[in-house]
Amino acid sequence: MTDAPTPPLVPAATALKQRLPEMTDPDMQRSDMHVEDAIISRRSIRAFKPDPVPEPLMRRILEAARWAPSGSNIQPWKIHVLNGDSRQKYTDALIAAEERGDDSGMEYNYYAPEWEEPFLARRRACGFGLYGAMGVTRGDREGRRQAFLSNYKFFGAGTGMLFWIRSTLEHGSWLDYGTFIQSLSVAARGWELSTIAQGALGEYPHVAHEMFSISEDYTLIGGMSIGWPEEEAPANLFQPERLEVDEFTTWLD
Ligand SMILES: Cc1cc2nc3c(=O)[nH]c(=O)nc-3n(C[C@H](O)[C@H](O)[C@H](O)COP(=O)(O)O)c2cc1C
Repeated sequence: MTDAPTPPLVPAATALKQRLPEMTDPDMQRSDMHVEDAIISRRSIRAFKPDPVPEPLMRRILEAARWAPSGSNIQPWKIHVLNGDSRQKYTDALIAAEERGDDSGMEYNYYAPEWEEPFLARRRACGFGLYGAMGVTRGDREGRRQAFLSNYKFFGAGTGMLFWIRSTLEHGSWLDYGTFIQSLSVAARGWELSTIAQGALGEYPHVAHEMFSISEDYTLIGGMSIGWPEEEAPANLFQPERLEVDEFTTWLD
């Protein structure tokens, strides 16, 4: 076995200077947003304009996100970008699976099997807040179903992504994936795009495995919608609250 070529040694301070000129030019104005503004202005968008993200821009965002850290730099991400027709075809297949009553079960447990406090209360507040903003009442089962099916429609966005991970990988690599997903979301803000990460896109995994000829060696994690928000759509006005820093931090001297 031959050793992989050793990359050149470069001080961290010059990384940006080196990486930036190699990136795809999407021929669009980059926002001059501070990274902090990009992080705190991100919110999950659930109503998008239908315009797909042009490929050079999508590529540029991925070129940024690929610098996300991962344990031992194994980079466990493997994704599909679905644009235009392929996005629609996948949506249609998911809706058909739902209507047929296929097994929707994900290939992993997103949540613990039993809900406990304080998480149950936070989850409820999130659900009530979101459905409340959308004017969907508690008893309106069809309204709730339609709101949930919007997940499969990528909330109207023209571009979506699916996230896969090698099935043999462990918790650490799933942590790595989180850094990648957040990097994608924040990089998108830098181009004034919005996103929503979607565990719901991990449902009906057989549909994605078949459509994209992906073997059981890979697990479908979920996906993401990306695009330009319908700013005034009720679902986009919902802003879930956050814990105060001192509620989750212990300060030690
Ligand atoms: C990995 C991940 C999966 C998520 N899955 C879904 C989903 O399937 N559908 C959905 O509407 N929101 C989903 N969300 C969005 C969360 O509900 C949202 O992040 C949370 O309520 C906080 O709101 P904010 O992102 O607007 O700050 C997901 C978020 C993450 C990080």
